[in-house]
Amino acid sequence: MIISGNNPAHVQQAVDALCTGELLGLPTETVYGLAADACNETAVAKIFQAKGRPSNHPLIVHVSSVNEVKKFARVVPDFAQKLMSQFWPGPLTLILPRQTEMAAAAAGGQNSVGLRCPSHPVAQEVLKACAAKGVWGLAAPSANLFGRVSPTSAAHVQSEFGDVLLILDGGECEVGIESSIVDCTRGVPVLLRPGQISRTQIEQACGLKLVSPETLNSEAPRASGTLKSHYAPTAKVRLMSTADWQKALAALGPHTQNLALWSVQKPSYELMGAGLYWRAMPEDATEAAHDLFSVLRDFDARGVRTIWIETPPNTPDWEGVRDRLKRAAA
Ligand code: TXA
Ligand code: MG
Repeated sequence: MIISGNNPAHVQQAVDALCTGELLGLPTETVYGLAADACNETAVAKIFQAKGRPSNHPLIVHVSSVNEVKKFARVVPDFAQKLMSQFWPGPLTLILPRQTEMAAAAAGGQNSVGLRCPSHPVAQEVLKACAAKGVWGLAAPSANLFGRVSPTSAAHVQSEFGDVLLILDGGECEVGIESSIVDCTRGVPVLLRPGQISRTQIEQACGLKLVSPETLNSEAPRASGTLKSHYAPTAKVRLMSTADWQKALAALGPHTQNLALWSVQKPSYELMGAGLYWRAMPEDATEAAHDLFSVLRDFDARGVRTIWIETPPNTPDWEGVRDRLKRAAA
């Protein structure tokens, strides 16, 4: 059931559900989360079950402010502190050493915990009201079935889990792709997942170079969002250069069928066969991130079998979008 994030009685209903161990579809500025009390093992188990996600894949714990961090994290390195003061509330998740007694199930049994303080006003309201009732953190993965495209609207969440799930509507997500994740448990910052906050911004804020996970030979933590194939729509996704899709489209001529194209360049009138469904890719990376998942869902809803996507520029601002596209195409 979708309820309104603008209605105080509905927000209260959502908070009550969370505080009694129920699940909630929670809006954040990145994507919608499937939230539960991070310290309630039974509630956390419901998340893994609903998503069909292996229970050893750790979830992000959302907090209302930096004040709750010490409840969940044992140590906060200096560079992590800097990242929090610069980017929280906002689309950045930090992996920190976990307080042994806290949120073990949510952390998938790892001795670290992922923490994020979202900026979405409705998420903030819910988190503050929960904290006032002693629920210090909300575990929330993206509110989609395991391996599927993340939801950026309440309707998307409903299409994943049906009407039985309580969903708090906070409108369309502004960012559109999941938070950047920085592992702060290895002495140096390690970028596990790129997002809207870019590599350069992170390095500037903490005064350290980001290390990539591949260069570390210790065993990497399990991270679903970093699986090679993820964020996949039902249709097959192919990344193509402008020249390549133009050539391929010309070769198909009027025989185009069940094909979708997301590109900055508009196909010429002659190439627009009846079976081609085109949507414009914004030239700006932030706007493209905002549109990405809803475009993929829209193509799927139209029953297309193949999705061609124009390869975005190889520049730092596109890193988050490029990452999701590569996984969607894998
Ligand atoms: O923007 C976001 O981060 C969204 C919204 C809802 O906040 N959440 C999200 O959660 O994307 P999820 O579960 O779909 O992705 C979280 C990623 C996963 O790849 C998970 O494995 C990783 O974070 N992660 C969480 N805790 C971790 C830990 N202790 N160590 C390593 N990776 C961790
Ligand atoms: Mg996810």
